[in-house]
Amino acid sequence: MYVVKSPLSDANLKTVSEALQGALVDLVDLALVAKQIHWNVVGQRFRSVHLQLDEVVSLARTHSDTVAERAAALGISPDGRAATVAVGSGIGVTPEGWVDDTAAVGALVDALGAVIARMRERITATGEPDPVTQDILITVTADLEKQHWMFQAENG
Ligand SMILES: [Fe+2]
Repeated sequence: MYVVKSPLSDANLKTVSEALQGALVDLVDLALVAKQIHWNVVGQRFRSVHLQLDEVVSLARTHSDTVAERAAALGISPDGRAATVAVGSGIGVTPEGWVDDTAAVGALVDALGAVIARMRERITATGEPDPVTQDILITVTADLEKQHWMFQAENG
């Protein structure tokens, strides 16, 4: 069912739809992973890591909303359901239980790295079909890469 008329051709819409839906599930999962570790981190650096993890949660939630609403604006129904996220996320397995601060930071380095790699593919894929979507993905990726830098520096 198409309620919203898209300005894009069918072929371009397919490409952009996959990019936005993929970005959505990655960002929803990133927010969940960051909260999980926010709650479970222990160690001498607890306070700084705990607080920085909430920065990731905040940006992931904000950007998931932006990409979902960009999809809707193009006539694409965004799917942020838990089952869809579980199947589609590019983030690997998150450690269970308490996690020491070094492992917590390492988990975020890995999670952010995985999402960034996929985001950069989406940036490339959307450049021609829809530069407006590409612009959003570039902004999202810049914020992710800033966090990626800071978490790498934490364990440097
Ligand atoms: Fe909290």
